[in-house]
Amino acid sequence: HEQPNAIRACLAGRLSSPDKPITFENIGLTVDEIKNLKKVVFTACGTAYHAGVVGRFLMDKLARIPAEADLAAELQQRDPVVLEDTLCIVVSQSGETADTLEGLRAMKRKGAKVIGVINVVDSSIARESDGVAYIQAGPEIGVASTKAYTLQILTIELLALYFAEVRGTASPEEIREIKEWLLKLPEQAEELLKREGDIIELAKKHYDKPNALYLARGINLPSAMEGALKLKEISYIHAEAYSAAEMKHGPIALVCPDMFVVAIACEG
Ligand code: F6R
Repeated sequence: HEQPNAIRACLAGRLSSPDKPITFENIGLTVDEIKNLKKVVFTACGTAYHAGVVGRFLMDKLARIPAEADLAAELQQRDPVVLEDTLCIVVSQSGETADTLEGLRAMKRKGAKVIGVINVVDSSIARESDGVAYIQAGPEIGVASTKAYTLQILTIELLALYFAEVRGTASPEEIREIKEWLLKLPEQAEELLKREGDIIELAKKHYDKPNALYLARGINLPSAMEGALKLKEISYIHAEAYSAAEMKHGPIALVCPDMFVVAIACEG
């Protein structure tokens, strides 16, 4: 329920009008460094990793920078190649997750510049990053990251748009349209929360199903992964996320009447 105002706080000072450029302070990269970026690697754990997977789509699409996303604990297992002008974007609500901090240090040792997308001000990850983009979510009281996920995606989207403006990689019309959508987000979140009663009705209908499947494609697939993670963590119900396109290559065999299926089917 704090999301509409948290979204407003995250936009404030960065995006005020569709006609004005995005501004970011203290991200630790000069305009020339942004123009020269050759690769972006997102690294994080859990929910924050899912936001990083959304970021991979956005960096490729808007900023036209080849992008990867790694679970922080797995990053060192694959010993990634860090070329000159590689940027690592480390995503963390708390700024204290040990695996994420290790991933950050490994990327710095390899010569990457690091931006932290963080909630908690002056946390360990914030201090060790070259620059920080705070998500401005306010205290995340619940153990499970919730509003932080929305705000991580929004902050990363603003960063990708900012890079696109600096690098000239998206048309002014496309950038303007995205800015218009982003400025409408707080009201849209308020509208969605007014439908809480409908959502409770759905939950009452399906709460006793033993298995759930979250389906999506493209940029929405990480949100399906996030939905499945939240259902497992909060409701102790087995849930899996799958590319809707991949279902026919095997897993559809598991679908039966007592399976709850959530399809994220919005465009864009
Ligand atoms: C799931 C959840 C965790 C965290 C993960 C990383 O609901 O909250 O998966 O996202 O432990 O934590 P942070 O973002 O603090 O680095």
